[in-house]
Amino acid sequence: MEHTRWYKDMVFYQIWPRSFYDGDGDGMGDLWGVYEKLDYLKALGVDGIWFSPLYPSPGADCGYDISDYMDIAPEYGGMEAFQKVLRGAHDRGMKVIMDLVVNHTSDEHPWFQKSRRREEPYTDYYIWRPGKKNGKLPNNWDSCFEGKAWQYDEVRGEYYMHIFAVKQPDLNMDNPLVREEVKKILRFWLELGVDGFREDVITYISKKEGLPNDYLMPANKGILYYNHGPHIHEYLTEFYRDVLADFDCMTLAEAPLVSPKKALSYIAEPDGEMDMMIQFQSMCADCLFTDYIHMPFSLRKLKRAWSSWQKKLDGKAWNMLYLENHDHPRIISRYGSERFRVESGKMLAAAYLFQKGTPFVYQGQEIGMTNWRPQSPDMYEDVQTRWQYEHTALHLSEGKRLRRMWLASRDSARTPVQWTAGENAGFTTGKPWFYVNQNYREVNVEAEEKDPDSLLNFYKKAIALRKSLEVVRGGSYREYHALSSRRYTYSRTLGKEKLLVLCSFADEPIPLRIPGGFDLSKAELVLRNYSQLQEKTMRPYETRVYYWGSGV
Ligand code: GLC
Repeated sequence: MEHTRWYKDMVFYQIWPRSFYDGDGDGMGDLWGVYEKLDYLKALGVDGIWFSPLYPSPGADCGYDISDYMDIAPEYGGMEAFQKVLRGAHDRGMKVIMDLVVNHTSDEHPWFQKSRRREEPYTDYYIWRPGKKNGKLPNNWDSCFEGKAWQYDEVRGEYYMHIFAVKQPDLNMDNPLVREEVKKILRFWLELGVDGFREDVITYISKKEGLPNDYLMPANKGILYYNHGPHIHEYLTEFYRDVLADFDCMTLAEAPLVSPKKALSYIAEPDGEMDMMIQFQSMCADCLFTDYIHMPFSLRKLKRAWSSWQKKLDGKAWNMLYLENHDHPRIISRYGSERFRVESGKMLAAAYLFQKGTPFVYQGQEIGMTNWRPQSPDMYEDVQTRWQYEHTALHLSEGKRLRRMWLASRDSARTPVQWTAGENAGFTTGKPWFYVNQNYREVNVEAEEKDPDSLLNFYKKAIALRKSLEVVRGGSYREYHALSSRRYTYSRTLGKEKLLVLCSFADEPIPLRIPGGFDLSKAELVLRNYSQLQEKTMRPYETRVYYWGSGV
């Protein structure tokens, strides 16, 4: 089938279902709730939804530990609710993509239960190894969530590999039967009518033969041997050729530690194995590789990442643009300012929404939700946060360790979406499964819908503007003031059409600087976050978008 690449004209919205909206009053977000909010998404200008996992799961990693790939969890409303949402989305012209999590399953998946008992054909579905004679683990690799990457299983009498939590055993993708299972899963959902997949840590699925010890990496040992492993392209090509090519679908690969050059080996047009990549470089402007190693925010680092992806993919592949997802703390609390919450939220929106690519908005980002800061470490739910708190920086006081988690924890962005100023932020009529951020009385959808100057209404305007301008889809990208640590300036150009985006990342006024060649007297100011403009100054976190052409 000819690849239509419809996703290039779209804006996607990520739903992390537990915390989106509760439709049946049991305290947990669900698909009945999503159904009620489809018109909200449509009004925002969203054309597609990415669902974080909806499948049955014991919940050790909030759904990324799957025990049945071909069903929808009862707490989310089961298949009936899913079909209703899918139809409802399609009726509104919205696409739906699912999360495909096949680097690992839950240890409660029947495949694992049979594999540990050596029941055929499941014996080699996972990566099993005997321990070493001296009582040592099969190799020295680390897991990303809980210590070493090996867990001894009494039933089988061997160790299994888990690159993530202990309850997330890695599948053995070198086994052709496992790849057949993946293809069955893909086909099942595509035949049901879904429009594609976000593929979870998909670059991890092929491990280096012999699983050698890693003597190079100081932490995250093993990543050099399982990220972009030896057969990765072969397997992804097989999934594409045998299933995906038969459908008009899109695929989005999650790829930690990927450079633009490496990305091209997966997503270069016209015949990449996948369509877009979730890169992490632009999420590391205030940390070192992972949110858990916090550093002061560096705008120059952020701009280098953004511009490098814009330039290196240009004309060759398509960017996926994002500021937030369920794995990172909230962006205003990181790259913006809670003191200038609305202003900086708007500026950040303009900073990424007019780049070339397909933007994704994570639930709550559009109303400017900020980090949640629990008073006690026991309040954290996330397996990674809990492990980090208990095992790292133990020389620091408890208070300091807790503050580190505030900056890094995935739970900072997993609190329920704040719909109203009422009880439980209007998320549920029951008892919420998780804590609600206490700023909900001020930060909520209902209040922002009424306020023409709200962040929510800014997102609506910015998304509508992006869609109305051909230059945003196709124009070339250029950055100015690259060395500045306070301003981000970029233009987009397509023939005579031009867009200039000015963003201040400073919390105090800075001089307005317009790059040479842009005559403001002929431009239209199509978007801004302050109603009163100063001639020579940009206010804290100010943004302005100027347009030359006839498109508005
Ligand atoms: C991805 C997901 C994350 C999950 C991990 C293991 O990074 O986005 O939430 O914990 O993979 O599946």
